[in-house]
Amino acid sequence: MTTVPKFVIGNWKMQARHEHGLQLARDISRRLKDAPPPPHLHTIICPPFTQLDGVHQALKETGLPHEQLGMGAQDCYPASSGPFTGDISAPMIRDLGARYVILGHSERRQNHGETDAIIRQKVKAATAAGITPIVCIGEHLAERNEGRAASVLSTQIEGSLTRGFRGILAYEPVWAIGSGITPSRDELQRKLTLIRALLPMRLMTDDIRVPVLYGGSVTSVQAPSIMSIEAVDGVLVGSASLEAQSFLDIIDAAAEATTPQPSP
Ligand code: PGA
Repeated sequence: MTTVPKFVIGNWKMQARHEHGLQLARDISRRLKDAPPPPHLHTIICPPFTQLDGVHQALKETGLPHEQLGMGAQDCYPASSGPFTGDISAPMIRDLGARYVILGHSERRQNHGETDAIIRQKVKAATAAGITPIVCIGEHLAERNEGRAASVLSTQIEGSLTRGFRGILAYEPVWAIGSGITPSRDELQRKLTLIRALLPMRLMTDDIRVPVLYGGSVTSVQAPSIMSIEAVDGVLVGSASLEAQSFLDIIDAAAEATTPQPSP
């Protein structure tokens, strides 16, 4: 029987200056080298572009396979090269060791006007460069309160994923990001079940199992409860990934919540 992998992903956003970022990567690496999490738990660190090279070196020193401890970028451009001042392409981040890329985060949708169509182009570019896309979807508070969450999620899935999507999906309700508020277990279970039901329609097959993660105000306090929800394949962590101990606590909690206990 194959174990479905679980994920803990740290999104540093535009935080952690150079030395701080390197130190953070080294601290996390050191602990994971000494006490590696179970192989089914995949940890991914997503620093800013400027830190990719240094973080990659720190992670490599653990000797852990990249599936177990990998690195991702926080965005990429749809084209692979060309006259696009200030942009960074998928092959460029791949050159620096990134195996993943976060796409369609609500901060990019909001601050950079990224539409589902742009995100889908980026998914194609990442996939062509051998990078696994981590696509974020999620409704705003007003949409949730007006009972429109299901149609928002459906539109985002339909618009931002490619038909043959091979990647990770992160459900990040916009109202939960950075707010200290997380959905109840019940709400999460319902939303993730809905997302899982929508996926085969977009992918036109139910043979592909897309991991579905939750993100938004995850800390080591809620991580055990969130990770124990059956429909949750992992967590995408923002601010709590900026401090080595709090991120390691989340990894430990995820490992514990997802490791099958031997029967007595
Ligand atoms: P947060 O961010 O954990 O700080 O709420 C999550 C995210 O934006 O991915």
